[in-house]
Parts: sequence; structure tokens; C-alpha cells
Amino acid sequence: MIPCQRALFDIPADVAYFNCAYMSPLMRPALAAGEAGLRAKAQPWTIPTTAFFEDSERARALFARLVGADAEGVALVPAASYGVATAARNLAVRAGQRIVTLADQFPSHVYSWREAAKAAGAEVVAVALPEGCDATQPVLAAIDDACAVAALPHVLWTTGAKLDLVAIGARCREVGAALALDLTQSAGALPIDFAAVRPDFAVAAAYKWLLGPYATGFLYVAPRWRDGAPLEETWIGRAGSEDFARLVDYRDAYQPGARRFDMGERANFALLPAAIAALEQLLAWTPDAIARTLAAKTAAIAARARALGLSAMPEDLRGPHYLSLALPEGAPEGLPARLAAERVHVSQRSRSLRVTPHLYNDDADADRLIDALARLL
Ligand SMILES: Cc1ncc(COP(=O)(O)O)c(C=O)c1O
Repeated sequence: MIPCQRALFDIPADVAYFNCAYMSPLMRPALAAGEAGLRAKAQPWTIPTTAFFEDSERARALFARLVGADAEGVALVPAASYGVATAARNLAVRAGQRIVTLADQFPSHVYSWREAAKAAGAEVVAVALPEGCDATQPVLAAIDDACAVAALPHVLWTTGAKLDLVAIGARCREVGAALALDLTQSAGALPIDFAAVRPDFAVAAAYKWLLGPYATGFLYVAPRWRDGAPLEETWIGRAGSEDFARLVDYRDAYQPGARRFDMGERANFALLPAAIAALEQLLAWTPDAIARTLAAKTAAIAARARALGLSAMPEDLRGPHYLSLALPEGAPEGLPARLAAERVHVSQRSRSLRVTPHLYNDDADADRLIDALARLL
């Protein structure tokens, strides 16, 4: 178990922030790294040309370690949608085939697939997850010979329902389907081993569970797709881009690995150092220990919420970091706003409160949440 890490965050004592799935707070060291990076731009002579490469390589390597991938396969992207668009551009879909998603999947992981399906004469199917049941079985059943791509998350962003990605990866390989993952609501808080899952593409926006700044993210590309087509043709993605004096010796060859898929201006001197500081801290804690600690926090809240009439999904069916509390009949409208007025922050998705803690939450936060719910319900 990791002890409470509130001192690393700038969260006032009277704020109970249970909304990491919406946006994580930046840690103080990450903020300092970002501020130093932004300040460097005021004195550009302090930014050497090597800086265009060093932080990018460091970020690639750190994310790779976090998910059990090779650093060569990691590209730097600004958003989950960018990574999904890259996957959709490179994965073949034929007429009559199906792209398998979940019902209520986050739109960044839907629209590119709808466009790809429209262009190919294929179909996007959305697997409905029956409440209170294992989410993996219905997904496995939908991945058959007609499936071109399984486009899935590790946990569903609304409810936290968890998929067994090792089993799903194996099924994809069995039927010849590609696996394209959006790990934005899991990477950093829920361990994953890419060597076991073997996704074709996997993206994670960093501003949630990777504790990074907004507009940073990572895209993993499996070896067989690394000679594919990027969304943009960047100068830095071409071979020899380290030599600034010879950039107009235009080259057909790309930088090795997944670097061709990096977004333009990927060497963001303000954001990348902050993302790196966050990844270093996550690796020091380890995703395993983070998951165990958050599992205890969510289980304790679920038990107390149950006594107030709010029911939660069983622990083995949801992400350990994710609690979706079904509201009882007669619960007042606008509950999140009423809670926010008491400095307790959660989200509402459909008729459920989404409570997503992190290591900054302490017992006093949980007390504030439960006391406020007891008063408002
Ligand atoms: C599952 C999931 N994916 C992606 C995102 C963010 O997408 P993007 O980075 O494309 O803005 C969110 C934000 O809530 C999300 O919940």
C-alpha cells in the first residue's frame, strides 16, 4: 500500500477531489518541470538542438516501461483521437466486415472507426455490457471471423467495467482481427503487460491516470505496423533530422521505430518535461501498488455508500481505480454541482456517480464525500 501522497499535490485540505477520470491534478514536481520548460522559451539560446530529441526519447522509454512495451514502438501524440486516427489509417477494413466497440465508448475511440467503416462499406458494432455481469464474455462473443478490428478500452469510461485484454488479444489473433486500444482511463492506474496483450495499436492521453499535462499522450505501434503511414509528414520524423544544417536534403526514409507517427512539434519544451516527471513518479510507485492502493480506497467508499442506498459494481468486474455508484430512486438532480458547492468533486454519468480517487485522497476526503451524500440524498 502506498501512503497518502497529498503533499506532492496542490490540493487544499478542504477540497475532496474524486475526479481523476475527468482530469488529474499535476504534481508539484511536474508543475515545476513544466514551468522551467516554459521559461526556457523566454531565452531560446538556452534550448540546444539536442533538446528536440532528448526529452522525446526519455518520454518514449518511460511510457514503454510502464506498459511493458519496447520504447521503439512508442510515438508522442497530442490526444487519444490522434492515436485512434493513426490506427484507423493503417488497419485494413473490408466491405462487410465489422469493427467491434463497446456501447457508450468514449467518442474519441468511435468516430475514426465510423469513418473507416463508412469508407469501406463495413459496420461498427457496439457491444452492450449487461449490468453486474462480466464484460469480457460478450466482447469475446462479438469478435469472430467477420471482425476486422476490436477497438476497445481496458475499462469503460462511464462505469469502470473492466475487460480481460489478454483473453481479448488472444481471440483477435485467433480470428485475424486487429486490436486497437484506448487506455486513457487505465494506463498508470491499472497494470497492463503489452507483451501478453499484444495490441496492434494502443493510445493513452496523459492528462488523467498518467498524471500528465493536457495535450500530451502516447501511441504504441506494434512492430508489424511501424512502416505504416503517419497522419502528418513531419521534418523531425525523417532520417537525419538531427542535422539541422541539412534539413533541406529531403529524405524519403523515416526515423526508426514508431517515430514517424510522432505529432508535429512533439518536442514540446513546456509539456514534455512535466509528462516525464509524472511518468518517473508513477514508475517509482509502480502501477501494481497504485492499483492495490486505489482498490482499497474505492472498496472502502463503496461499502459506506452502500449503506446510503448507492450500489456499486462488484470489485472483480471493475477497474480498481474506478467506482460507479448507482443513485437510488428520488436522488436529487444536479448532485455533482451540489457536491461541488461543498468542495467535493465527482462526475455523474447517466444515473451513476463516478468516483475516481488517486493517491492524494485521504480518509478525511472519504468522510467529506459520505457525509455530503448522506445530507443530500
Ligand atoms: C476513454 C477516454 N479516451 C479518451 C479521452 C480523451 O480523448 P482525447 O484525448 O481525444 O481528447 C477520454 C476523456 O474523457 C476518455 O475518457
